[in-house]
Amino acid sequence: MPITNCTLGPNVTVTHPDLVNLYGCEVGAGSRIGPFVEIQAGSVVGADCKVSSHSFICEGVTLEDGVFVGHGVMFTNDVYPAATNADGTLKGSDDWTCEPTHVGRGAAIGSNATILCGLRIGTGALIGAGAVVTRDVPDGAIMAGVPARRIGTQEAFKNEHSQNLETQS
Ligand SMILES: CC(C)(COP(=O)(O)OP(=O)(O)OC[C@H]1O[C@@H](n2cnc3c(N)ncnc32)[C@H](O)[C@@H]1OP(=O)(O)O)[C@@H](O)C(=O)NCCC(=O)NCCS
Repeated sequence: MPITNCTLGPNVTVTHPDLVNLYGCEVGAGSRIGPFVEIQAGSVVGADCKVSSHSFICEGVTLEDGVFVGHGVMFTNDVYPAATNADGTLKGSDDWTCEPTHVGRGAAIGSNATILCGLRIGTGALIGAGAVVTRDVPDGAIMAGVPARRIGTQEAFKNEHSQNLETQS
């Protein structure tokens, strides 16, 4: 079953309900989920979010309202993953610690970014395509690269953009 035990708010759009894997998650009102997306149990997608195709939102991830997730974005929740315990038995749900990640309202995450776990991505921040985010991201920061570094702020970008428009007019 592609969508099981989920709490979907009103007017949630799952563009291809047969091509997603959503289980035990919450998705807020008006959000839009693209194809080939997996959203695990214990994660929360706020209202009016857009999650683009091929992205993975794992247990412990919370997206506040209005968050944009590009294509192929990977969240993580285990700092030192391993298949087996020291005695060789396969790890079970009690054998690892989920590290939660929080994405602030209105933030945007570019395609193919990887978000390491236990982080806070600030309100209105923008993560560049292909970034690997290893540290908390301040509100409104623009981050890019591997590891992701601050290359600007949304405010500076908006100021520069509005000045360019004034020059052109
Ligand atoms: C990060 C981003 C917002 C920066 O855009 P910008 O402010 O216009 O920045 P610029 O293109 O002027 O680049 C500034 C510098 O950052 C570098 N840079 C830009 N984007 C980068 C990225 N994703 N990764 C690494 N470096 C990047 C540029 O090479 C440039 O470096 P330089 O000064 O040494 O030449 C943009 O490049 C980006 O990745 N947007 C996300 C796109 C996306 O994934 N959309 C998803 C839906 S289609």
